[in-house]
Amino acid sequence: MKISIIGAGYVGLVTGVCFADMGHEIICVDVDQEKVDKINKGIAPIHEENLSEMLKRNKERLTATTDYSVALSQSDITFLCVGTPSRSDGSIDLSYIEEATRFIGQLIKKWHLVVVKSTVVPGTTRDIITPLLEKVSGKKEGKDFSVAMNPEFLREGKAIHDFQYPDRIVIGTRDKKSNDLLKKIYKGINSPIFTVNPTVAEMIKYTSNALLSTKISFANEIGNVCKKVGIDVYDVMEAVGMDHRISPHFLQAGAGFGGSCFPKDVAALISFGSNKGLKMFLLDAVMNVNDTQPLKMIELLEKHVPHIKDKKIAVLGLAFKPDTDDIRESRSIPLIQELLDKGAEVSAFDPIASGNMKKVFPHINYPSSVAETLQDAMGCLILTEWEEFSHIDFSPMQKPVVIDGRHIITSQNDIIYEGLCW
Ligand code: UDX
Repeated sequence: MKISIIGAGYVGLVTGVCFADMGHEIICVDVDQEKVDKINKGIAPIHEENLSEMLKRNKERLTATTDYSVALSQSDITFLCVGTPSRSDGSIDLSYIEEATRFIGQLIKKWHLVVVKSTVVPGTTRDIITPLLEKVSGKKEGKDFSVAMNPEFLREGKAIHDFQYPDRIVIGTRDKKSNDLLKKIYKGINSPIFTVNPTVAEMIKYTSNALLSTKISFANEIGNVCKKVGIDVYDVMEAVGMDHRISPHFLQAGAGFGGSCFPKDVAALISFGSNKGLKMFLLDAVMNVNDTQPLKMIELLEKHVPHIKDKKIAVLGLAFKPDTDDIRESRSIPLIQELLDKGAEVSAFDPIASGNMKKVFPHINYPSSVAETLQDAMGCLILTEWEEFSHIDFSPMQKPVVIDGRHIITSQNDIIYEGLCW
């Protein structure tokens, strides 16, 4: 099929390259000319596993442009994959969605299917996107075009795998024609297809991310209790997770969740519920636990180094999780800010994410190795479970106080070791 994809970020590009790999003809649209040029050269503009190989392999079937009209005229189906960032109050910012929707509305000629894949609060497809398309195009939904919602559940670093081997595909449609078309597009992926209406599909996305975030904050709260009684929360969760009603996934306690999805989506759901007059007690608590969790590492540090002012403190791990250079909402950000507020001299290291963190904290040190980062340090805080951090030589430290926020340190010999929740 001929498919256009609006927004070539990690959702749009991964979706496009996977559809191309299934034999569909893909044209990606993005405002960023540099990104478009890279894609057309078969160069991955983002750090994602297997993306370069897939782009090269599908160069004949996937192109990119900044020109909407080229894309809309050469496709029958358009996936909307633009960003939905947060406003300062946590509510969702739909301005990119509205902008893209207007462009599409102006260019629809023959029958067209518009599929929303961006994460949007419940009701957005029905109450905002569809009426805007009708208004701009002067056409009728259901007759001249259709709008569907098809959320993604991709994890950064594993996005291509998650696209090709999903637990389920959720299709939110309002008519049989677009439902059949979407099923045809996904033909070849072995997964249950869950058919609902667009608003339910939108809510499935938020609920999934909100529950995964809740599991993590729950594990962290339980972990904080375990710490007080001198036991390892991982021993507890191993047995708890064996209950099939609970499952062992996303019960790894530590410094908390970051990334471009969980914090943003939980905040958007809280704001959405509040605007509907609801008090979002549980999700408020999920965010409170997540906000305070990294700061508990500094409390543990100060148990062994009471005055950290003017002391060199090492921070290992800046990415919000391993195997990505993404630092969005990384738990290392509030931690570094707190260290700086307390007057510490911060040295930070990450295998690939330091460049991105320099944009947030340009004035701290970023040595090029773990050893240099630890040199003469009075404390070390570990925020990302990069494999290489599992066996570190802490001997360069002046005082080997090590606070492990990710249960990654294996040998505790010759160091003063504190696990955050163990
Ligand atoms: C997440 C969802 O997994 C994905 O389905 C959705 O589409 C987008 O958001 P991602 O943001 O890439 O994906 O990260 P994920 O691997 O889910 O981890 C999120 C955060 O939770 C990371 O900071 C990770 O360190 C943390 N985490 C995860 C925990 O602290 N404990 C866990 O048990 C699991």
